[in-house]
Amino acid sequence: MPAVKKLFFGSGQRPLRQQLAITLAGILSLSILISILLLNILFGWQARQLIDQRAAFFMDAMLSVREYTSKKVNPILAPLNQGAGLFRPEAVPSYSAQTVAGLLKGKPEFREYSYREAAINPTNLRDKADSFETGVIEAFRRNPSLKIQSGEKSTPLGTVHYVAQPIKVGKESCLVCHSTPDRAPASQLLAYGDTGGFGWKLNEIVGTQIVTVPQAAVFMAKDRSLLLTAALLVVAFGVVGVVMNAVLDRLILRPMRDISRKADEASVTPATVNFEERERRDEIGLLARSFERMKQSLAISMQMLKDRQGKA
Ligand code: HEC
Repeated sequence: MPAVKKLFFGSGQRPLRQQLAITLAGILSLSILISILLLNILFGWQARQLIDQRAAFFMDAMLSVREYTSKKVNPILAPLNQGAGLFRPEAVPSYSAQTVAGLLKGKPEFREYSYREAAINPTNLRDKADSFETGVIEAFRRNPSLKIQSGEKSTPLGTVHYVAQPIKVGKESCLVCHSTPDRAPASQLLAYGDTGGFGWKLNEIVGTQIVTVPQAAVFMAKDRSLLLTAALLVVAFGVVGVVMNAVLDRLILRPMRDISRKADEASVTPATVNFEERERRDEIGLLARSFERMKQSLAISMQMLKDRQGKA
């Protein structure tokens, strides 16, 4: 690999400054490339984490609204729903959770967030599963051990991430309103009719709770951060390159040029030249001391030559 060797150890064919520039440019570009590739993986993983966290949080928040409704609101409103009066849907967890989610979705920054309780045979027609949701529900029915489904879903707003959980008729109490119309409160029949949301069985999976959270925007933000990081790396490495070049000049090149100039001078008039760099304790000092010794031997040889010429 002579090219790599040349890159790291210089070619000796150009000024040191250029050799260093080539070496630095090679190493720094390679480092930037590798860093960006690794950061792309890291940022991608972080973006996924963020999307998953948001989906989990949103789902938990909606489940909490459900729980609040069934524990705190339902006991107060349930008696009102018993008769043939106005049905208060606020007593129904599914209604309250979807209403809260709807309010949230109304805010521009949460447009891509949604929470639905979709059923194949719903009480409220708004909750009728569309073809995508029907597929999700059927997958849960086919495989009862499946507790969660997630993935990408394209919507008019762009690609979103969805997480779905099965809704099971877990309690006998559900069947009061969801088995046969004659068991349901009269007010419910007045409000929703007697066709939808009945005939559910205990332990049957009747629907799915499905949340969506933004995905495309998160990945776009990730790409922006990656680009910014790349730009910062290029700038930082550029600064390192310039500084290294200046340091090389001050530390090595300038003293070497000085010593070389003095050595030229010493080859003609050794007595007038002073290698004061010999005081230095680094390699430049070493070089200067060598030249100083050579200068002195040269001076002695010249003197001897002169003496001999004088005698002759
Ligand atoms: C007091 C009657 C009542 C009880 C008890 C009840 N529900 Fe409902 N349920 C309703 C009504 C009414 C709706 C429609 C609410 C709306 O307009 O959003 C509904 C809606 C739903 C939905 C959304 C899909 C649809 O049918 O519109 C699901 C899922 C659901 N209920 C599941 C359950 C489960 C599970 C239980 C037992 C834990 C339960 N329900 C207990 C009356 C009831």
